[in-house]
Amino acid sequence: MDRLRTGVIGVGKMAEIRHLPILAELPQVELVAFCDTSEENLAVRGDDYGVAARYADHHEMFDAETLDAVCIFIPPYAHTDAEIIAAGRGIHVFVEKPPTLSMEQAREINTAIAEAGIISQVGFNSRYRLSAEVARERLAGRIVTQALVHRLHGSGALAWWWKIERFSGGPFVENTIHYVDLLRWLAGEFAGVSARVVDRPDPSEELDIPLSISATFALEAGGLANVTTCAALERAGHAQFLVVADGSLYDLSDSSLTIDRARVADDGERRNCYEAQFAAFFDAIISGDQSLTRSPYDDGARSLAAVLAAVHSARNDGAWVDLRDAAWAVD
Ligand SMILES: NC(=O)c1ccc[n+]([C@@H]2O[C@H](COP(=O)([O-])OP(=O)(O)OC[C@H]3O[C@@H](n4cnc5c(N)ncnc54)[C@H](O)[C@@H]3O)[C@@H](O)[C@H]2O)c1
Repeated sequence: MDRLRTGVIGVGKMAEIRHLPILAELPQVELVAFCDTSEENLAVRGDDYGVAARYADHHEMFDAETLDAVCIFIPPYAHTDAEIIAAGRGIHVFVEKPPTLSMEQAREINTAIAEAGIISQVGFNSRYRLSAEVARERLAGRIVTQALVHRLHGSGALAWWWKIERFSGGPFVENTIHYVDLLRWLAGEFAGVSARVVDRPDPSEELDIPLSISATFALEAGGLANVTTCAALERAGHAQFLVVADGSLYDLSDSSLTIDRARVADDGERRNCYEAQFAAFFDAIISGDQSLTRSPYDDGARSLAAVLAAVHSARNDGAWVDLRDAAWAVD
């Protein structure tokens, strides 16, 4: 099998610590070009992976290279036209979550991807955890009455942009999107959302993300999901993902699932869910079968709509936001 000629846009922290080590080892992949606006990251990652074709601008990369696939690992605010150019050239697209920060742009990209018929995937790696997979099997056909999800953490962030709401979307969008996406995968679509926000009393140019956002999503099937993200901790964090369905309690962690306190999935070996998501993406390209991936772009954009709608509600005194309105539609 010829390996798929793959370009990477954004070779920062995630690329360094997670994605490039995996992509470099995948038998389906040949890393042929890197693009980054940071000269330093481009040089270091290019040298580390022996990739000589390096670009500061993705337009130049697309013009100079013949690619089968592109992996986009740039921050949420930085999305412009890379996905659209790729789609126009028949280049398959993997993009990290959140796929962008506006529904208008998500719709534009989704249309380009759909018209081109390329394979797409958004980086919702949590869907590839064993605990999530077993929970989805066990919840199939059951009605979720209530979900209770929280993530309590601090703002000692990885990247400067993460701490500034207009660049990252804030923690509810940048990170809690993983949990909201998993909820959609397990419990079905949301009808709407109402949310509240606690802003920090002393916002600055370097740190203005909210201290807390708490949202109540109404599930189309009738239940409720409470999702809270708090970025006010100074020390250890905590996360929990509880689902009540058909009178049973499902308790999901990164590595295990219990139902009514009985352990039904235990991923002691901790499956590498990043590797699984990339393998699915490249296998889907090779076979031409989008259904091999768990998060095509249109589906990922629906999770984006849910978190953006929650923040919109929070910024409007908790006003009910109907996710079936055209403003939140993906296509
Ligand atoms: N799936 C996960 O578990 C997970 C975890 C953390 C971060 N992420 C996501 O991964 C993405 C990258 O996060 P990160 O922590 O690596 O950020 P980072 O800031 O460390 O790296 C981003 C890189 O993109 C480059 N960049 C910015 N704008 C660019 C542009 N227009 N063209 C080319 N390069 C550009 C930056 O110079 C930087 O090298 C974000 O979307 C983030 O939300 C996902």
